[in-house]
Amino acid sequence: MQKLAIQGGSRLNGEVRISGAKNAALPILCASLLTSDTLQLDNVPDLNDVATMRGLLQEMGVSIAVSDALMELCAANIGKLEAPYEMVKTMRAAILVLGPLVARFGEARVSLPGGCAIGSRPVDLHIKGLQAMGAEIHIEHGYIHAKAKRLKGARIFFDLVSVTGTENLMMAAALADGVTVLENAAREPEVVDLANCLIAMGAKIEGAGSDTINIIGVEKLHGARHRIMPDRIESGTFLVAAAAAGGDITLTGARADILENVLEKLQEAGAAIQVAENTISLKMNRRPTAVNVRTAPYPAFPTDMQAQFMAMNCLAEGNAMVVETIFENRFMHVQELRRLGAQIDVEGNTAVIRGCAELQGATIMATDLRASACLVIAGLAAQGETIVDRIYHLDRGYEHIEAKLSGLGANIGRIK
Ligand code: UD1
Repeated sequence: MQKLAIQGGSRLNGEVRISGAKNAALPILCASLLTSDTLQLDNVPDLNDVATMRGLLQEMGVSIAVSDALMELCAANIGKLEAPYEMVKTMRAAILVLGPLVARFGEARVSLPGGCAIGSRPVDLHIKGLQAMGAEIHIEHGYIHAKAKRLKGARIFFDLVSVTGTENLMMAAALADGVTVLENAAREPEVVDLANCLIAMGAKIEGAGSDTINIIGVEKLHGARHRIMPDRIESGTFLVAAAAAGGDITLTGARADILENVLEKLQEAGAAIQVAENTISLKMNRRPTAVNVRTAPYPAFPTDMQAQFMAMNCLAEGNAMVVETIFENRFMHVQELRRLGAQIDVEGNTAVIRGCAELQGATIMATDLRASACLVIAGLAAQGETIVDRIYHLDRGYEHIEAKLSGLGANIGRIK
């Protein structure tokens, strides 16, 4: 199993290019199933989750060609309407093939995801939504088996805001008969990116980015070319790393307009932030000030940035409270941070962090994707050597992270 070795204590300086967003690329790859024409995608990040999704789509019969930064997907010859357990277990976003398959082919068999490290994460809202659109759904042998001659437009209210739930039903509705209204829909920028891609493919969608999305179903979608948006979580992760370790960095190919809450929190922590077209710069010349964080659906503070802020708070001046409202078990990084000397108390979904003047390097273990990023940040800011074990989680969602951090002057390397 691969590990990262980090010699902490150096400041981060320089420029880093932000990759395409994992959480936009995954649904958009699935959107290729909605047409027999070719979908061309720019800026698809080179990540393990993207490779897993490509493997799944190829197994179904999607032909995929990659040249330079362009990926071309063609779902003209689909032979298999199934996402097996082995795939869904390693990457829950595989559930995103369900809506497109039922909408275009009238049938799909997708494994139920089961639990994962950060919580139970059910998919009942995806299933209820498809049922409301007329799909017949049976759960058999751990699989969701969905059938529908043609899905029908429906009014669907989400009890809870669900990002992939909104995406799955938006894709399904694009080819349904009639109008679908998604209420209490997720407003995440990745939902908007998917909607923009679907619109380029001929879908009729209004309101993506608000909590009500209207979709007028069409008979057929066609090919299109779309550029995947920049990854806001990767952007936030590098900014927090520089805020925790100190430094002066500039993100290129980034978008500040979708990171407002995170940038405000970084300023509250004492960082100087400058935004220009496609770039975000951060300067931090002192110990951060503790900042409270409460996660909630977009545009509030993202759960995918919670762990990274926890790492910064461990070294901050003062006490911070971090409240996680989206996932019930997203404090797995706390135990590991304690191994570096962090002072953290957890009660339910609330963590209280008493900032200490320094963390000390140790061997620690990554437990999920964003927890891994948190441990890398803590290692960069700690004194001495930190070994982060089980970094396969990190490779799922961060493109060439150690090369990018080395480019900023970090002393970090992979041990095979
Ligand atoms: C997506 C993101 C993930 C991010 C999360 C929250 C992708 C590929 N992943 O995950 O990085 O952390 O949004 O911003 O985009 N829920 C139900 N029933 C459902 C669906 C969800 O109860 O049918 C619950 C979940 O357990 C969770 C909450 O709703 O407590 C939000 O989950 P959701 O937005 O669906 O997360 P994902 O789309 O899986």
